[in-house]
This record gives sequence, structure tokens and C-alpha cells, in this order.
Amino acid sequence: MIYDNLAVNEKGHLTFAGYDTVELAEKYGTPLYLMDEDKIRQRVREYKKAMSDFMPQGSVPEFASKAFSCRQIYRIMAEEGIDIDIVSVGELYTAVTAGFPMERAFFHGNNKTDSDIEFAIENGVGYFVVDNEDELYAVDRCASKRGVVQKILLRVTPGIDPHTHKKISTGSVESKFGIAIGTGQAEETVLKALDLENIELCGYHCHIGSQIFDAEPFHTASEIMLKFIADIKDKYGYSPDMLNLGGGLGVRYVESEPEIDYYGELRKIAETIKKQCAQLQLDMPKILTEPGRSLVGDSGITLYTVGSVKEIKGYKNYVSVDGGMTDNPRYTLYESPYTVILASRPEDKKDFTATVAGRCCESGDLIQEDVAMPRPERGEILAVLTTGAYNYSMASNYNRIPRPPVVMLNSERDYIAVKRETLEDICRLDV
Ligand code: LLP
Repeated sequence: MIYDNLAVNEKGHLTFAGYDTVELAEKYGTPLYLMDEDKIRQRVREYKKAMSDFMPQGSVPEFASKAFSCRQIYRIMAEEGIDIDIVSVGELYTAVTAGFPMERAFFHGNNKTDSDIEFAIENGVGYFVVDNEDELYAVDRCASKRGVVQKILLRVTPGIDPHTHKKISTGSVESKFGIAIGTGQAEETVLKALDLENIELCGYHCHIGSQIFDAEPFHTASEIMLKFIADIKDKYGYSPDMLNLGGGLGVRYVESEPEIDYYGELRKIAETIKKQCAQLQLDMPKILTEPGRSLVGDSGITLYTVGSVKEIKGYKNYVSVDGGMTDNPRYTLYESPYTVILASRPEDKKDFTATVAGRCCESGDLIQEDVAMPRPERGEILAVLTTGAYNYSMASNYNRIPRPPVVMLNSERDYIAVKRETLEDICRLDV
């Protein structure tokens, strides 16, 4: 199978992280998000090890929690000793109330409001990743009011197209994020930041995009970023303590995509940075990375119960499930590929081809098209793999559909990390 935490047991059912998925579906109901906690921890350790083996001391991954945010994941990341990237006061509040040490948090976003800024400073957020000049001054004002010096990184756009989906590419000059190096504005902002009394500029940040399969675009990004560092150093004598290269390494959704050796790719990125620093006669700064998808994406699967199976003679077949774009909007948004397995009978002959559809009143509410599977019966369990990133975190209540629970699995136990939403929850804020 595509991942080594998947297998088939003596009952002929799909197992995930050693658990019978059909039994889990019975125990917790469907739709159901499952996360393999041991695999998440293992991936975090792989990142950490690569970064400590090949990069200067203090180089660590930050978990980009937009990929999957709930209290339990912040506890796991705290236990593993890595930093986090948060992009809203919602994520911030979740992390704070989970007991995450906020000095290890990096606050992102292209439009932090004054109240967001105040809330973050009040809660002792370690670093702001400042997106633009307006924000720089707003952070300085707020820090001054509170009598603190706020550490920041400046987010700059290196002007790179990493050849990923347009909607998840962020490093180009015209991006809504960051300050462009190419137009000279990034340099101007550095000077302004260095002048501000309540701001401590600790380094630069860039993020070029998501679902990137190899180190190549990062080589280009680091080359541009280090050249920028060298220019500023030559002209003004300022050298940053850290360089954050963002997230973006992908995961394998389907067998036709490559398996990524994260340790190996990080090693390549580090070696290139080392060479580039030597050429520019720079000391290598502390490197930060911000993986989201690659820490959790392939540790999650979603289970659904099959509802109606429709055969439109001479046209196509539909298998409708009890979830859809409300728990996984990624096919609707990006036509993302997914591997779908009939969990009740994964080894039966796949002699039926169908589009897996959700249950929203929306024709575009599809999980995947043209999936080969055994012809399922109503009530059987279908598994969609690789749903650990940007599924729960992008879920909605469209059509007033309650969101599924998240169940964590580890070698000792299965437990609920996020409860299933109830109909009462759906109306909770209605007056
Ligand atoms: N850092 C920054 C500043 C980011 O904007 C992102 C993702 C990350 C880190 C993490 O990137 P990752 O390692 O997960 O690729 N909703 C889309 C993905 C949007 C990503 C936005 N930013 C999806 O479902 O594919």
C-alpha cells in the first residue's frame, strides 16, 4: 500500500496505524478524521534531526498550524519541542489555552488588526512575521504602549514561481503576502524596522508555495534571500540572526507522486545554503522551516459511510458518502488528487469506476472522480487517504452540516482530540 501504516487484517478490513478502520467507524461514527499520532511525532523528529544535523545550532522546524489546528496538536508539538506558526488569533488562542509556550510562536498573516496585535503581544507571542510597512508601525506602536520590545521577522517576497497550483503559490512579486525584494521596498522596510525603538528585527522570512516535491525551488529562494542578506550587510552592516525559508515540502497523495525523503531534501537545502553563504562570505544564519502539510498530511485519513450508489447508464457512476466538501474542500478548490479505498473490502476486485460525491447541494461537491473500486454497498466504509492537512482546518458548516470528530491513534490507545459537532453546536450562536 501507499503508506506503511496501512494494511489489511484477517477480517479483510483496512487497518490504519494498527487499528481496524471498520471497527473505528462503528465506535466513533462517520465521517471520521483519524490521525496517526506516532507517525506525526516521527515526522517531526525527522525534520528536527535533519535540521540539527545539517544546519547551525538553533535551527528548528515550526509547525505551520494552519494545516491542522486543535489543542491536542499544539500539545504534541510542545512535547516534541518545536516552534509553531500561527496565522490568526483563533490559532493563537487555541495554542495558548493548550499551554503552548508562546515565546516559541511566530505570528503570521497579511492583515493583522490592531486588536490582533495587542492580543498577541499580551499573550507573549515570541515573534511577529511582519508582512508590510503598515503592520510594522502598528506593532511598534502597540509594543511601545505596552513598554516592550517586540521581536520580528520581515516577510519578503523573493519573486519565485515554484510551479505548484496557482492558488497555493505565494512567493511571486505580485503576491498579496510580504514585501518585494525586486522593487527595492524590502530594503526600505528593513531600514525603517532597524530605526524603530520597540522593534527588534531578528531576520527575514519567505514562503514560496506549497506541495513542492523537491529541494530545487528552495535553492533558488535561499540564493535570493542570502544575496539580499549580503547586500544589506554590505550597505548597512546589519546581519540577521535567522532566516526562515517557509514551508512547502509536499506529501504523496497518490502512488504516481514521488515519495519524499524529507531528511534527504533538508540535507540538500542545507548544503546549498552552506555553499551560497561561503560564496557570499556570510556566516550561515539560523535556519527555520515552516512545514505544515509534510508534518501531518500523510498521517491522516477520513472514513465515510457509503450512501447511495447511482449508475447513470452510458454515462457515469456516483458513490455518495456522508461527508464531502464540508470536511474536505480540496478537490472542489484545487482538484487535488486523493487515494480512495473501500475500507470494508480493500482486496476485492476494483471493477467499478465511480465519482465519489459528497452530500452538499452543490454539483462541485466531489471528493474524487474516476475512482476504481469494488462496487460498494450502502453502509460500507470508504477511506480517503492523506487528509491530515488542510481538511479539518478548512472544514465548514455549509448546508449546516456538523463537522466530524478527530480521533488520534497511537501505539497505546485511540482517543478523541476534537469532538463531533452536534446539531446544538450548529445553532449555538443563533439568536
Ligand atoms: N508558512 C507560510 C507562511 C504559509 O503560508 C504556509 C502555507 C506554510 C508555511 C505551510 O505550508 P505547507 O508546508 O503546508 O505547504 N490550503 C492549501 C494550502 C495553502 C497553504 C498556505 N500557506 C491546500 O489545501 O493545499
